[in-house]
Amino acid sequence: MDTILITGATDGLGLALAHYYRPTAKRLILVGRRAFQDVPLTEFDPNTYCRIDLAQANGAEVIDNWLEARNIRHLDLLIHNAGTGYYGAIDQQSWADIEQLVAVNLWAPIALTRQLLPCLQKRRGKVVFISSVAAMLPAPDYAVYGATKAALDGFARSLRVELKGSIDIQVIHPGAARTGMHAKSGISRETMDWERFPPTEKVAKKIAKAIATKKPSVTIGAGNSLLGFAGLYLGRVIDRFMQRRQR
Ligand SMILES: NC(=O)c1ccc[n+]([C@@H]2O[C@H](COP(=O)([O-])OP(=O)(O)OC[C@H]3O[C@@H](n4cnc5c(N)ncnc54)[C@H](OP(=O)(O)O)[C@@H]3O)[C@@H](O)[C@H]2O)c1
Repeated sequence: MDTILITGATDGLGLALAHYYRPTAKRLILVGRRAFQDVPLTEFDPNTYCRIDLAQANGAEVIDNWLEARNIRHLDLLIHNAGTGYYGAIDQQSWADIEQLVAVNLWAPIALTRQLLPCLQKRRGKVVFISSVAAMLPAPDYAVYGATKAALDGFARSLRVELKGSIDIQVIHPGAARTGMHAKSGISRETMDWERFPPTEKVAKKIAKAIATKKPSVTIGAGNSLLGFAGLYLGRVIDRFMQRRQR
């Protein structure tokens, strides 16, 4: 891969993916919302860092302008990884929070794909959406998060047919990983012990291996694949089971 852009490259899976591709990518463009001096990217060239809050409606345009200013007009791989979560009942979640979640997890990948389509088509490139196994299962107390991930799956599927192979479109469904997202979403360690989840680097490596394949959709890990399959094809049984667990 010659030119790779990763959103949400300042923490968790995105940061681990940036490290994974660093030795081989000719040009790695990293997108994050914080100032360069505040992010753990010291091994990377600050000139390859594009700072933008993806909750901003014009984020895609800002990134495109940033690329144009550096004469970058082609992309081989675009990884929509940035994501945010909220833990709690829907009536406790503020409107502003719901808006932010939908903007980062759904609007930004849709807008950025649309904006960068000419750059991707120039190289018959690839777009990767980091979804979640939550897209295939009920996600109680993460309902909006689950909805954004399920919507990404739908967008990717339609786009794949619409674009008739002019670029590759892939959706990746990781299961739980030991990243900072859980604490950021507001869930406590007592409710969810994220330390028992697989380490970030291990999950990121599996994601990168999945990206190297031509498969349109990949679920990371055999257990998650089974869960996802059950969620999709045994919907009512799974919903009832999870409802009982909620009680
Ligand atoms: N961890 C899991 O268990 C899990 C499971 C399934 C799917 N996923 C998905 O995997 C992806 C990566 O998540 P992660 O677990 O690595 O989470 P993470 O460690 O919190 O990293 C998320 C990245 O997205 C960035 N981001 C969040 N809001 C942003 C905004 N408004 N503008 C720009 N960047 C923003 C974060 O920036 P900051 O560094 O500034 O916070 C960070 O770089 C997400 O799409 C997530 O839904 C995660």
